[in-house]
Amino acid sequence: MKFFIDTANIDQIRQAQALGILDGVTTNPSLMAKEGIKGESNIRNHYKQICDIVKGPVSAEVISTDFEGIIREGESLAEIDPNIVIKVPMLPDGVKAIKYFSEKGLKTNCTLVFSAGQALLAAKAGATYVSPFIGRLDDISYDGIELIQQIRLIYDNYLYETQILAASVRHTLHVIKCAEAGADVMTGPLQSIMGLFNHPLTDIGLKKFLEDFHRSQQ
Ligand code: E4P
Repeated sequence: MKFFIDTANIDQIRQAQALGILDGVTTNPSLMAKEGIKGESNIRNHYKQICDIVKGPVSAEVISTDFEGIIREGESLAEIDPNIVIKVPMLPDGVKAIKYFSEKGLKTNCTLVFSAGQALLAAKAGATYVSPFIGRLDDISYDGIELIQQIRLIYDNYLYETQILAASVRHTLHVIKCAEAGADVMTGPLQSIMGLFNHPLTDIGLKKFLEDFHRSQQ
């Protein structure tokens, strides 16, 4: 399973990149706003900065919701760097735009997906990635992981090449459950990745190994 970090925070992207296990980055307008990135040229520069740090797919989301606007914005975002993936919301015009981009060989991420039917539409349009938001489903008492399993089954039935990018991952157990469910990619905050390192027996074992080593050297 590929690991993407879901943030526009440069320090956190650098920290995740330094671990050597980061495959890509996802952002959204809320995450960009959280970093205080305003205005078109600052937004473009920020994406470029991220692409210079991580040599993998970087999702940049369009703001337009009509077909022409999505195409204009998406093509312009794709010019920033060859690793830019155009993130398009699940809408009729969005699906139409994904089909257009896929025929042009541009990579897309269909975002705001909350059902298997929406994931089926994204795959039929040729999306590179589909982003089911598992955390937001859990928030309203639906099982986000169950949706990943359902999409996995449907995509495998028809050999769709669209990659399942489990999004809205909130914690470390989500990461494990996404891997069990067969997600191709998960995107989550830095702490969801860092949590994977933790086990008390690792800490106890390492402490004992080091103590024994130092004692044997006295
Ligand atoms: C998807 O790519 C989104 O950026 C993201 O995962 C949303 O997560 P949230 O529900 O924690 O805001």
